[in-house]
Amino acid sequence: MNNVRRITDDVFYVGASDRRLSLFENIYPIERGVSYNSYLVLDEKTVLLDTTDHSVSREFLENVETVLAGRPLDYLVVNHMEPDHCATIAEIVLRYPDVKIVGNQKTFQMIRQFYTFDVDERAHLVKDGDTLTTGKHTFAFVFAPMVHWPEVMVTFDTFNGILFSADAFGTFGALAGNLFADELDFEGEWLDDARRYYINIVGKYGVQVMNTLKKAATLPIKMILPLHGPVWRENIEWFISKYQTWASYVPEEKGVLVVYSSIYGNTANAVDLLASMTAEKGVKNIHVYDASKTDVSVLVSECFRYSTIVFASPTYNAEIFPKMEMLLIELKAHAFQNRDAVVIENGSWALSAGRKMTEMLSSMKDIRIIAPLLSIKSSLKVEQLEDMEKIASALAESVRE
Ligand SMILES: Cc1cc2nc3c(=O)[nH]c(=O)nc-3n(C[C@H](O)[C@H](O)[C@H](O)COP(=O)(O)O)c2cc1C
Ligand SMILES: [Fe+2]
Ligand SMILES: [Fe+2]
Repeated sequence: MNNVRRITDDVFYVGASDRRLSLFENIYPIERGVSYNSYLVLDEKTVLLDTTDHSVSREFLENVETVLAGRPLDYLVVNHMEPDHCATIAEIVLRYPDVKIVGNQKTFQMIRQFYTFDVDERAHLVKDGDTLTTGKHTFAFVFAPMVHWPEVMVTFDTFNGILFSADAFGTFGALAGNLFADELDFEGEWLDDARRYYINIVGKYGVQVMNTLKKAATLPIKMILPLHGPVWRENIEWFISKYQTWASYVPEEKGVLVVYSSIYGNTANAVDLLASMTAEKGVKNIHVYDASKTDVSVLVSECFRYSTIVFASPTYNAEIFPKMEMLLIELKAHAFQNRDAVVIENGSWALSAGRKMTEMLSSMKDIRIIAPLLSIKSSLKVEQLEDMEKIASALAESVRE
């Protein structure tokens, strides 16, 4: 049974959602599932833009067949060669052997790497800025290298102002009937997943994302059709401005994020007290997370969200507690930068977590340590309350508008 959605007169949604998968890319928990979007344009020539993951291939192929209604498939535009979008290419080629595949040099190199079918006899090679006219529609191909992978391009349909944006402007979360972002409470129910998706998947490549946003700013975009999540036809500038914030490593909000690790609870107690002291100084936007409880992808995303971050960890085998160390490694890997930070350590005999956390933070760009390291020996002592007050004041100062 097909489940096709009409976006404009002749542009159709032929993707599908997966709610079974627990870990996207076998690493990111996706409680709310994920959609794999694919779009089919019925012009004088028929054009499919990207395919889907294996998991939804049956629904996808039925959708394509339904929309084509017996017509041949003339073009498949491959904006992105990651298997969550390209897994069904060989199947498309089997079913529609005369299809021309539109891609760039890197696209074809990857198709040859992933597949054995004869891509060269079907290849329609494009360069940055090239166009393809299929009747009413003219598709312009804009290269967006590293807006997830090196071969990525986005496709702009000059006929209707649709930007087929590849992974950009996508989000985790399966679709539930409503296809358009304006039909959803996107800010309330989707933004956290959109941020987590962007930061974890593409966050490292802020410079490249900014370059693509600059190119896109010259296009009269009326709709954005990403490869995951809902389609944008209203309030597009709002979502683009979120991307500008994330890609330029500017905090989205003034706020205090406290991430801690704790084995027996003493470090947890200390940061809870710190949170209370900070609240008493009038700070409202405070969030406390246990790094053992919350997935690191959420923590990385929250670190990108807030201006001011407290990292607190016990010493563990002369190292940082592993869950905290993982967060710091991931932050570094995502080019985390431009934040105020505080470090708190704990230990019962030889404390070294603080120095090591500070070293890791210092290896990132523009991480400003705003208070002296607080060292807890097993449990916080009354004599340390003054130091805690100083940290709370520094946090309050950091988030002052
Ligand atoms: C496996 C293990 C290794 C530890 N290694 C160290 C260490 O190398 N140096 C140290 O000072 N404390 C070490 N500790 C002790 C904890 O850091 C210390 O008890 C701390 O106060 C625990 O804080 P918490 O109550 O927040 O869990 C270790 C504890 C465990 C369980
Ligand atoms: Fe991707
Ligand atoms: Fe993707």
